[in-house]
Amino acid sequence: MFHLKVFFYKLIMQVLKLAGKLVPQSQPFIFTGKDSSLALTKLIIDQDTQHVFIVTDAVLNKLGIAKSVCNLLAEHQVKVTIYDQVTPDPNESVVNNGIALLRKQQCDLVLAIGGGSSIDAAKMIAVLANSRQTIKSVAGLLKIKKQGLPLCVIPTTSGTGSEVTMAAVITDTENQSKSLVISPKMIAMATALDPTLMKGMPPKITADTGFDALTHAIEAYLSRYANEETDQFSLTAIKLIFKQLPTCYHHGGDLAARQALAIASCYAGLAFNKTNVGYVHAIAHQIGAKYHSPHGFTNAVVLPVVLDFYLNGSEERLADMAKAIGINTNKLTNMQAAEQFILAIKKLQVEVGIPKTLCCIEEKDIKTLAKSALKEAHYFYPVPKYLRVSQCEQLITQLCTT
Ligand SMILES: [Fe+2]
Repeated sequence: MFHLKVFFYKLIMQVLKLAGKLVPQSQPFIFTGKDSSLALTKLIIDQDTQHVFIVTDAVLNKLGIAKSVCNLLAEHQVKVTIYDQVTPDPNESVVNNGIALLRKQQCDLVLAIGGGSSIDAAKMIAVLANSRQTIKSVAGLLKIKKQGLPLCVIPTTSGTGSEVTMAAVITDTENQSKSLVISPKMIAMATALDPTLMKGMPPKITADTGFDALTHAIEAYLSRYANEETDQFSLTAIKLIFKQLPTCYHHGGDLAARQALAIASCYAGLAFNKTNVGYVHAIAHQIGAKYHSPHGFTNAVVLPVVLDFYLNGSEERLADMAKAIGINTNKLTNMQAAEQFILAIKKLQVEVGIPKTLCCIEEKDIKTLAKSALKEAHYFYPVPKYLRVSQCEQLITQLCTT
């Protein structure tokens, strides 16, 4: 019965792969380097934009994160409305309130400045601003009918990759779940990876978001959709994250390290945009929706546990990643190299203060969490190896007790 189900899931993934090839996908123009956020602002001005709708959160707004961008826009008589009501794991109200304000102010471009939550909310606001579709009606694959307003993105964390992807995650408060929206219509026009806006990121957020990027790159490399191009992006991202995450964690003001980590996150985003993710995300999404644990942090704890499950069968791909981070694999078998890679992840966890367990998980919820995680993974993600429900339950139990 299980083998029949796996055959069915693989068939779905093949159909989705073919459908994906028929859908044209663009890529944002990427500005990088110190003050690249201002270069992106000049592009916005050159587009004859009349009124920019900035989507951010209250903390960043209070810190004046958008100040230099707003000043430059004002110098060129471009009007600005700032919507700073984005909360972590934004829900429908955050998006709908943003849409209402944008329509009232008649803005013609959306600019996200912030972490993954602000970027995801901005994507939904931009795409639904001129549409009659609701969030529920666009949840899933390729359900957005109309092209939205132009969208630009200035990420202030290095992890989500959302600045280059066609996905957004919105919390469904009613069902305590997360809705995944995937459509090329959500790809931004341009993005700026500006390390000056990232240097103030606290160590904990640096660690959590850095591990989110690492998870994207690893899940992309292990995906059944991986190809030469995505492999290149994934391996470069993994190498950069292992090298730069500890530096950014301990010395947040190091602009060169911040820049490299931002590029790694962007590369990981470009990879998983084509390959999708896997069980780490599927499990982390359920835990995040149920207990509100931060996305990157949850991925960080779940990652090695899922990799231990992948070990038998994915040892060659895991060994490649070991090589990429500089482990001398010459005298090792693929299995030994793969084990070394997972060990290196566990060491990196310790170095940047990631715990081994998630104390928020309640035993009574494990069955439901496992069921929902498998539902998400098996209908969306081309995972390299399939979990049974009982195995997934065991794996989540392990997260509470290891
Ligand atoms: Fe993620």
